[in-house]
Amino acid sequence: MTTPPAHPATSTLPNAGPPLELVWPGKYHPETHLRRQPITLQGTATDPHPHRHHHHAPPITPSTLAHGRFQHVLTAAIPENTADFIYADPPFATDRLHRTTTSTTTTDDTAYSDRWTLPDYLDFLDDLIALSYSRLAPDGILAVHVDHRASPYVRSLMQEHFGVVPGWGATHKQHSSPPVAAGGVFINELIWRYGLGNSRGGKYFLRKHDTIAVFAKSKDYYFDPPVGPASDAQKAKYCHIEDTGDGTQPPRRYMVSYGKKYYFKGGKRLDSILEIPSISPTARERTGYPTQKPLALLELLIRTFCKPGGLVIDPVAGCGTTAIAAARLDRPWIAIDQSPTAVDFARKRLVEHIGADHFDDVDYTSTPIVK
Ligand SMILES: C[S@@+](CC[C@H](N)C(=O)[O-])C[C@H]1O[C@@H](n2cnc3c(N)ncnc32)[C@H](O)[C@@H]1O
Repeated sequence: MTTPPAHPATSTLPNAGPPLELVWPGKYHPETHLRRQPITLQGTATDPHPHRHHHHAPPITPSTLAHGRFQHVLTAAIPENTADFIYADPPFATDRLHRTTTSTTTTDDTAYSDRWTLPDYLDFLDDLIALSYSRLAPDGILAVHVDHRASPYVRSLMQEHFGVVPGWGATHKQHSSPPVAAGGVFINELIWRYGLGNSRGGKYFLRKHDTIAVFAKSKDYYFDPPVGPASDAQKAKYCHIEDTGDGTQPPRRYMVSYGKKYYFKGGKRLDSILEIPSISPTARERTGYPTQKPLALLELLIRTFCKPGGLVIDPVAGCGTTAIAAARLDRPWIAIDQSPTAVDFARKRLVEHIGADHFDDVDYTSTPIVK
């Protein structure tokens, strides 16, 4: 941990990009000026002797549903530099108590509280981004999904922890926590345009999108270019369909020119606006857990940003959408949530989709907090 300057918000960092930093009450200690560290279980993310503490919380193995705070589970049970892709859809600071529309036998209808003071919320995001960064493999990717309320803070914190400001390049990482070599890369600001919902507006355009900020730890990150379905024009051109008929291969489109077959290799490259409908109230996919995201969105992100067989982690997993999408795409996964209701919903869903024998279920709620 390095000692920051007395007035971090106004200092100009040597060899840095613009002197840009999000500062909030509590980020720096008022007397020592030390930057806050993530709260963790059994030591900190920068613990010099992590092996000394792990005797009663062994590293968890994929694929696992973990009940507990991500601050604890990530530090106690997941080694640094291991995850290929981390997707986090944290509470958005909506000032609401989120309730389920259906209840389980073991929990009431409270899903989670989303009421915060701004400094507490920024501490939470800082922990989420710092600890996720430390758990990423050297070429791993973090995607953080929020809406207009939190997106400016998420971008600023990701820029700080990944050591990169889009358009300005690398920043000096002397204040980062934990300190890490620069080399981070901004990949995308994705707009998920969900279409449904939010149809009553005030004095503003209807708000119909969320924002997903995507950064990588290094420029060697995995990327499988996403393509959309065939357009009508492409369908007309590749008008023949080859189908083995036995279900072993998906049907393939092709065209014939001078007696030679040319197969359709995919639609247009997708752009950063993802048009995926949110889950309708009557859809089979809907579990009743509030803020559930569509499987189609998670499958697209995982296919694009996580190599085949790579480890996917969701530190704020809700009803387990990321886990199901990863399992469907044959990627191992770890899903963490502190809400008993979320874990109940996720467990039920995982049992239905992949079977009880294909994942572990671990409770981290009784492990002690070390500040
Ligand atoms: C927006 S929801 C995630 C929804 C999820 N993407 C889905 O599709 O179901 C955010 C989740 O973060 C969880 N959460 C909040 N603070 C947490 C913490 N410190 N550790 C783990 N989970 C937390 C909440 O319980 C809630 O389920």
